[in-house]
Amino acid sequence: MFPSAALLTTVLLALSAAATPFVTIRDAPVTLPLARKLNLTGGTKNLVKAAQARAKALRALAEAKASGNAEAFHTDAVINEAVDNQAVTYVASVGVGSPATTYSLLIDTGSSNTWVGAGRAYVRTGTSTQTTNRVSVTYGSGSFSGTEFTDQVTIASGLVISKQSIGVATRSTGFGGVDGILGIGPVDLTSGTLTPATSTLIPTVTDNLFSQGTITSNEIGISFNPTNVAETVNGELTWGGTDSSKLTGAVNFTPITSTFPASEFWGINQSIRYGASTTILSSTAGIVDTGTTLVLLASGSSLLKFPPVQYLISARFIDAIAAYQRATGAVADNATGLLRLTTTQFNNLQSLFFTTNGVTYELIPDAQIWPRALNTAIGGNANSVYLIVADLGTTSGQGLDFINGFAFLERFYSVFDTTNKRVGFATTPNTRSTIN
Ligand SMILES: *[C@@H]1O[C@H](CO)[C@@H](O)[C@H](O)[C@H]1NC(C)=O
Ligand SMILES: *[C@@H]1O[C@H](CO)[C@@H](O)[C@H](O)[C@H]1NC(C)=O
Ligand SMILES: *[C@@H]1O[C@H](CO)[C@@H](O)[C@H](O)[C@H]1NC(C)=O
Repeated sequence: MFPSAALLTTVLLALSAAATPFVTIRDAPVTLPLARKLNLTGGTKNLVKAAQARAKALRALAEAKASGNAEAFHTDAVINEAVDNQAVTYVASVGVGSPATTYSLLIDTGSSNTWVGAGRAYVRTGTSTQTTNRVSVTYGSGSFSGTEFTDQVTIASGLVISKQSIGVATRSTGFGGVDGILGIGPVDLTSGTLTPATSTLIPTVTDNLFSQGTITSNEIGISFNPTNVAETVNGELTWGGTDSSKLTGAVNFTPITSTFPASEFWGINQSIRYGASTTILSSTAGIVDTGTTLVLLASGSSLLKFPPVQYLISARFIDAIAAYQRATGAVADNATGLLRLTTTQFNNLQSLFFTTNGVTYELIPDAQIWPRALNTAIGGNANSVYLIVADLGTTSGQGLDFINGFAFLERFYSVFDTTNKRVGFATTPNTRSTIN
């Protein structure tokens, strides 16, 4: 017995020693740290205008795509909003080339191209190959155009992609302080971004990690955390699974909505209630978006702002942001564009409940306010209380009636599952923490 057991051990050791260098399939998900940055030096003192411009651009993109005009959308300037830098961003350090040059890239679930060159210039190495294509992408907060390369992309140790399509910007607007974007939205959003279009879609970094066998499931998990400092590394992106150390409960999934245009993004059906029984939004479609700072709710037409009219029509079309404003007693604040509460109103603020696929997520009062330590950074008053729930800028019933942005995602872990076409949420140690 003894000799054969020893032999077996030796054989196993030899096998594992021999196998190690060839293992490519990872048994544990790999994570990338994310840094949250608040930067309002670029002129965007108004978080709401920036968020509305993005929402408008996302809708316009989906509509252009549906009518076969995505290419014209990306290459012609169809967004007439003033170009503003995004005020709050999550960025990650990503290597491109070999040896790799490190770029600071925005993490964006609302777009799917990966590109560099807005700040630090692209450095060609032995792994860089220029294609014959040009790339252009238009965003709510800017645009870029340049040439397409394929190159090695290093996301983290053990997470290396070969021949990833990347855009190399020759022109970009609206991206001060970052080098480009790591687009982790659905692959369909790359349609129309290449000219001449040699292939209609460009596999995203997640698609390539999956197809190259580096991760075993085509999904990503994101941990954001609330903060009251302007800049901190407090998030994490996990490829190929979820980081269970960040969760305090199970991940509950909801299917991607079939309602257009939310269906083009990480869109879900959701209803929203304030307190015990005040309906803010009946079940409707919207999106989950890491490129939006706030939680945005549809507004009604000016006619719908009159309560007598609201009683006459279906609750479904009632102005959601006005319902929230009425319920909380908030007033519009000119300086910040946000809704503002008195201290007494804040003390009476109730939770906002988001229900999707039968599961309810509670945004506690503390999670509904902008971090007070950062009030002056957004042009506000240090002693005021500002709400992070703001006006989407379009009326409800149009297929994109809410955006669950950072303010929501900093309280719930999120999972974006391409294979099963679903989005998941889970509670975290920060879901109920008082920080703001
Ligand atoms: C903030 O934005 C400005 C203007 O876009 C940019 O020049 C600057 O580098 C950014 N600062 C940081 C720390 O990202
Ligand atoms: C979402 O809501 C729409 C409109 O009510 C409905 O048709 C659809 O079945 C719902 N579910 C999904 C997954 O889209
Ligand atoms: C708020 O802005 C509006 C329109 O810009 C202006 O008419 C109004 O006087 C402002 N109110 C205050 C209190 O500053």
